[in-house]
Amino acid sequence: MTRIELTQGVYWVGVVDWNLRDFHGYTTPRGGTYNAYLIVDEKIALVDTVKSGFASEMISRIKEIVDPSKIDYVVSNHVEMDHSSSLPDIMKIAANAELLCTEKGKEGLLRYYRSNWNFRTVKTGDELKLGKKTLYFITAPMLHWPDSMFTYLKEDKILLSNDGFGQHLSSSFRFDEDVCSLLGYECDTVMDEAAKYYANILMPFGGVILKKIEEIQKLGIEIEMIASSHGMIWKNPGKIIDAYINWSKGVSKQKVLVIYDTMWNSTEIMAGEILRGVADSGIEVMLLHLRRNDWSEIVKEVLEARAILIGSPTLNNGIFPTVGGFLTYLLGLRPKNKIWATFGSYGWAGGAVRAVNDRLKSSGYEPAESLEVNFRPDDADMAKCYSLGQKIASLVRAG
Ligand code: FEO
Repeated sequence: MTRIELTQGVYWVGVVDWNLRDFHGYTTPRGGTYNAYLIVDEKIALVDTVKSGFASEMISRIKEIVDPSKIDYVVSNHVEMDHSSSLPDIMKIAANAELLCTEKGKEGLLRYYRSNWNFRTVKTGDELKLGKKTLYFITAPMLHWPDSMFTYLKEDKILLSNDGFGQHLSSSFRFDEDVCSLLGYECDTVMDEAAKYYANILMPFGGVILKKIEEIQKLGIEIEMIASSHGMIWKNPGKIIDAYINWSKGVSKQKVLVIYDTMWNSTEIMAGEILRGVADSGIEVMLLHLRRNDWSEIVKEVLEARAILIGSPTLNNGIFPTVGGFLTYLLGLRPKNKIWATFGSYGWAGGAVRAVNDRLKSSGYEPAESLEVNFRPDDADMAKCYSLGQKIASLVRAG
């Protein structure tokens, strides 16, 4: 196996999960990785592990560098099983190792593994000297579990950020800058996957992220590399830190999404005419049918869109099931700084648009516009749809 060295004595010992296509409901068409890092000094530390089933591959990588039984410290930045479920394997081999984690991390690990490991709990400001290298711990509660923390390699200026700044992306490359440049063409693959990851996992925690970035800056921590536990290692961390700041603040583009489902095409006809109204106003707009698009991808588009229109036909006096399910997912992610509007068709009695509006209001969002049409839209209805698109476009243009 080729050794992957971040800086002298700091190694990637993770695994690539080429066939990962679903990560607890989040679609991962490009696969993923579970990154673990080995720091070799007078003492040896392993930071995080990999998903169970890949433990032997991680241990083989460690064996290429050191005898795993000589590991002195195992750091568990996060309890979730994609990072912790190989702990039982490594703690069996490194039988004398201390296991460092937050207090919440210890609680979680004990609940999951019921093992009598040699725990040491740490908090922000605590350090661990390995020799010339020092590990500095920064707790990061709700990024994205209460137990989460970052480990900072002081002398190397590397932030081992666990889930923070990750992407679900498999590649034979390990560093962000190589994914495109070594292919010989311009691409945004890593940033595109980082946006999808942020939108689907971290979007609810924007306020916490901003505070954490501010805290790290106040601590005077210089970051020359970010090595997350998922995807590519950022050799150019400024780019992803800036993106996180913008996403966390809800900075958006002049872009509109028309998200809908349809029974007998009436709501779809409305969606198309609304789209025409937006597009004719010179604002970017996307049409997203909920059974023909991947929801994780739709949520990625939501991240930077300024306006979201939700369209639902009425079924049984209420919301169409896919629209209801999508709203549950989307509103749980608490998107910030959006203009909302709703539309839909009904047969003998309405209900869907009112119910969508109620769902939005109960999550703290006030729809700017709503439009309901009985059965098939006629010419007058089509004019209203077009006008709705124009109104939304002018709201987007106004900022
Ligand atoms: Fe990558 Fe929260 O686990």
